[in-house]
Amino acid sequence: MSPSRPYAHVAADGVTRVFGSRRHNRLVAVDAVSVEIDSTSMIGIVGESGSGKSTLARLLVGLDRPTSGTVLYGGRGLDLLSRSAWKDFRREVQIVAQDTSSSFDPRRSLRDAVRLPAVQLCGLGTAEADARVDRTLELLGVPPALAQRRPGEVSGGQRQRFALARALVVEPRLLVCDEVVSALDVSVQGTILNLLKRYCRENEAGLVFVSHGLPATAFIADRLVVMHRGRIVEQGATTDLLDAPAHPYTAALLQAHHGRPPGGRRDAVLPDPARESWACRYAPSCPRAVDTCRTERPPLADHAGRTVACHVPVDAPLLAGAGAGGPR
Ligand SMILES: Nc1ncnc2c1ncn2[C@@H]1O[C@H](COP(=O)(O)OP(=O)(O)OP(=O)(O)O)[C@@H](O)[C@H]1O
Ligand SMILES: [Mg+2]
Repeated sequence: MSPSRPYAHVAADGVTRVFGSRRHNRLVAVDAVSVEIDSTSMIGIVGESGSGKSTLARLLVGLDRPTSGTVLYGGRGLDLLSRSAWKDFRREVQIVAQDTSSSFDPRRSLRDAVRLPAVQLCGLGTAEADARVDRTLELLGVPPALAQRRPGEVSGGQRQRFALARALVVEPRLLVCDEVVSALDVSVQGTILNLLKRYCRENEAGLVFVSHGLPATAFIADRLVVMHRGRIVEQGATTDLLDAPAHPYTAALLQAHHGRPPGGRRDAVLPDPARESWACRYAPSCPRAVDTCRTERPPLADHAGRTVACHVPVDAPLLAGAGAGGPR
């Protein structure tokens, strides 16, 4: 914990978010997820498209409310925060949302957009706020003249930097970045990632980096949270997960990025619709599925220095005489 800046801690405790209704397209986007983030850690949330990463990110920063479960800030439920504690939360925990194109007022200059939270959340006067905006833009390598433009008059990459500036201008303790580099050229991606890393180190801020891109996430995050169909399937130190993934889904994700299966083995199979109703949501695509995966939802449990939700983790022997015809 930093002695100079207060510690910030946000925890999702058994959080579920359901969209639709029982009759209409009911979808459990986030399913009983517990995760902790704080101002001392760099965490990556990875998973394929639709796995619930953005929904979880929005829940963690209070932009959306869970259907059940609680999000806690400093140990208190977001619902129970006083007006001033809620204001502190909004200043200390910032998000750069996935789609920045619609998050700017098209009629106002980018400078106005970046200045607004400095005034509203930090209570700065105009001169102070302007100085803060200039410092933040300089830090992000944005030419000040660009800030006079409107959101529609700059490129996507430039707008992304303004979205970052708008989050950083209030000097948050925790920054949640949702797919902030996915749409950018690889060279620009590197610049932004290095910048974020440096910013967090120098300003004692924590980072939650949400992305379906494993290489960028692994570069920036010390710890990874792997999501699959709304659930956390594996969580641990980035190096541990990259060196020896324990959940078959993590292994498949890594293989997809390496382009070839390590050791020539293929760890994902074509989805089997007959397994859609199984308790483990990865079972339809899992080469290691056993009968227990049909009936029992695998709990997140300690395993090889990380937590894994799998009855048959990758480094565990396949269960002898497994049901459902045994592992495929
Ligand atoms: N407001 C909403 N109404 C209905 N369904 C939603 C809503 N927001 C998200 N979903 C659904 O919830 C699931 C999870 O979506 P989410 O955006 O969290 O996934 P993601 O992991 O961020 O995906 P991506 O990598 O494509 O950004 C998806 O099936 C999505 O269609
Ligand atoms: Mg998303």
